[in-house]
Amino acid sequence: MDYDIKDPSLAAEGKSRIEWAGEQMKVLGTISERFAREKPLSGVRIGACLHVTCETANLMLTLKAGGAEPFLCASNPLSTQDDVAASLVEDYGVSVSAIKREDNETYYRHIRSVLGKDPHITMDDGADLVTTIHTELKEQAGGVIAGTEETTTGVIRLRSMEENGVLLFPVVAVNDARTKHLFDNRYGTGQSTIDGIIRATNLLLAGKVLVIFGYGWCGRGVAMRGRGLGSNVIVVEVDPLRALEAVMEGFRVTTSIEAAREGDIFITTTGDIHALRPEHFRVMKDGAVMANSGHFDVEIDIPALEGMSTGKRKVREHIEEFTMEDGRRLHLLAEGRLVNLAAAEGHPASVMDMSFANQALVAEHVFTHASELEKKVYDVPLHIDEEIARLKLETMVIEIDSLTPEQEQYLKSWTIGT
Ligand code: ADE
Repeated sequence: MDYDIKDPSLAAEGKSRIEWAGEQMKVLGTISERFAREKPLSGVRIGACLHVTCETANLMLTLKAGGAEPFLCASNPLSTQDDVAASLVEDYGVSVSAIKREDNETYYRHIRSVLGKDPHITMDDGADLVTTIHTELKEQAGGVIAGTEETTTGVIRLRSMEENGVLLFPVVAVNDARTKHLFDNRYGTGQSTIDGIIRATNLLLAGKVLVIFGYGWCGRGVAMRGRGLGSNVIVVEVDPLRALEAVMEGFRVTTSIEAAREGDIFITTTGDIHALRPEHFRVMKDGAVMANSGHFDVEIDIPALEGMSTGKRKVREHIEEFTMEDGRRLHLLAEGRLVNLAAAEGHPASVMDMSFANQALVAEHVFTHASELEKKVYDVPLHIDEEIARLKLETMVIEIDSLTPEQEQYLKSWTIGT
């Protein structure tokens, strides 16, 4: 088996953590049991570029139970849990090419190594596999039945490829399933981002001014949890509708430059480039802290920050301090990379349960419907989304009502009870 990991001797610790996460992933567990019986993915090679965490390990085991052969590399150079990678290789025979803190060249070497296995299905978190195929390995596209995409940033890229007529195979936007983004992006990012900031800094959030850039599902989650810990939350948003929602949710909404003067902690969740840039660095308070929770490390203009500073030093793990010409010190967490995965462990398992249940069922769906798919970006079929919600409630032992026949009839008619 082909693999490249940090240290195989970390396997025992990784196995225990994979099992601990698995306890919280009952939907995936249910799918895994069915997969083991039915083997719906027999002989399917799956190239996965995901954060190498305990939760991802459970997804790999589910795919394997279904008869697939998964090959895993990292979707971020800082998010790999080396013990998990070790256990996947040593205990479960899954091929992993990922090492925490790998450099750029190794990161892409690992991506190419996964693509070298000629996957029938690509599973991306940020579209790196798809992008690499489309830019340098076009000849491989014909062998790909379909791709799946885990995150908002990746879906935006794929839709842009589709609109520009360059998409070479079908892709399913797993991110857009309601059982994914309404939970993972909101409650997952909400908790894990705050977790990353607290683990990195040990700051008290109560009474701090927390500035959230972007009020998408991730921004909402972080704003909500920041408020829950007693922070005064300011939201910066360019979309008028979303900005209005933030206002009516009770958050203060203002411009980025105004917020830059007041904030103690800044968190970017925009999916766009340079949300924080020189004009903001110039007016931030001494001691301000900046963290990013968007997929790529472009949301904070780090090269500009470096250029404007007279020096930098590492204060403690995950905190770099930049000294500005006027003596103010600005702090950057986790090198501007996903703070929740770099400084903490990513989203908790019980929310990844639904995200990865989507990945597993979508893999089965694209394999069984291969001949019907076109070179388009597809939504997750509604029946999969609903099945996951139903299963999640079931595993939480929560029962819900169904409509009475009379109520169903009422919803179908336009004359009764008017
Ligand atoms: N993305 C965010 N949190 C994650 C986790 N725990 N595992 C895999 N991908 C993630």
